[in-house]
Amino acid sequence: MAASIMEHGEDAFRKLFKLYKRRSPPPDFSDVLDFSKIVKCDKVFPTKLDPTVVSDGEAKMEGLRPIRDWQAFGIQGYPGFIFISNPFLHGSQHYWIRQCLKTYPQKPNVCNLDMHMSPTETEDIWGKSAHLLQSKDSGKREPKTLLEKLRWVTLGYHYNWDTKTYSADHYTPFPDDLYSLSHHIAAACGFASFRAEAGILNYYHSDSSLGIHVDESELDHTPPLLSFSFGQSAVFLLGGTQREDLPTAMYMHSGDVMVMSGHSRLLYHAVPRIVPAPKGDPLNPTLELDGLDLGPDHGLTQPCTQGKSPLVRKVSAEDWAVCSRYIQTSRLNMTVRQVLGPGMAFPKVDTTKQTERSDTEGYHEVQDGQNRGPKKKKRNDC
Ligand code: OGA
Ligand code: MN
Repeated sequence: MAASIMEHGEDAFRKLFKLYKRRSPPPDFSDVLDFSKIVKCDKVFPTKLDPTVVSDGEAKMEGLRPIRDWQAFGIQGYPGFIFISNPFLHGSQHYWIRQCLKTYPQKPNVCNLDMHMSPTETEDIWGKSAHLLQSKDSGKREPKTLLEKLRWVTLGYHYNWDTKTYSADHYTPFPDDLYSLSHHIAAACGFASFRAEAGILNYYHSDSSLGIHVDESELDHTPPLLSFSFGQSAVFLLGGTQREDLPTAMYMHSGDVMVMSGHSRLLYHAVPRIVPAPKGDPLNPTLELDGLDLGPDHGLTQPCTQGKSPLVRKVSAEDWAVCSRYIQTSRLNMTVRQVLGPGMAFPKVDTTKQTERSDTEGYHEVQDGQNRGPKKKKRNDC
């Protein structure tokens, strides 16, 4: 009896995951919540944020609209889950996309390519890919550039996919700009003491998916986990504390931010499918570089930044040409985590313990027919 409930239960998340992942016939997407369109839905309610904790000037420094203009939602049955529907200023997502593609993959940050390539080979992923990517003929089968082979980057305390831990001795400084962006988003959601200590960036292509998992490796689960989405859209599944809980499906569009806190901090979740960004999205690369200019005339250096220089800077047309080509078919996701609670330290580790090196794809599911070495067991995956 227990076994059959378990089997049936395990199927609830997995079944929906497989349904949304299915190519043929394609699934019915009509049950997927779309926060960019919500007029009235019993499951969804507006959430009040605190507009006093971040000044309009501070928000603008990271390319965010004033907090009072953000549209934030909660979902019935998921206390602590906050969905912020694209709080970015028009034209400022470009900066974060460029950071994900050009800046954050650079050393000393760690990426999946480092697992099987030498440091010199992975030194300048952007430089080695930019021209090749732009000159690619989409009709032809050409070798993938390093940028297209990128699956994950880790920041701050670098997540170890084998031991599923963070450690004091594998830390490099967390990027200031993302630290500040995360701090302000968390503060607006009531977590003023949030410190960004670790980041996992995910790079998805149209056939990518992210297996069912819980983010539980952080040593303190009281601080929230933040998740940012850019480029193409995703179907995101948010489940319960058990695999048998039926998940809620929702779209994450470019610019959307999720905050998982409280009860929702340790819920099962997954990304079964990448879907095209809605038509008319200002990032849609078929449109011109409208709204792209983040130079002084964009207003990001206005006096309301209180003498500080803005963190979000202009993306050159040359860089944007590469980014825009990349996000035509891809999605970027930045997850930001606080690892340690106040006054906490990492436990002493047993360095004599050997672990098998594996899982270079991070949470990503290996696609059939793609040569990425032997198929590895995924964390909490189906
Ligand atoms: C993660 C994660 C979800 C996403 O990196 O832990 O769950 O939206 N990402 O890509
Ligand atoms: Mn996760």
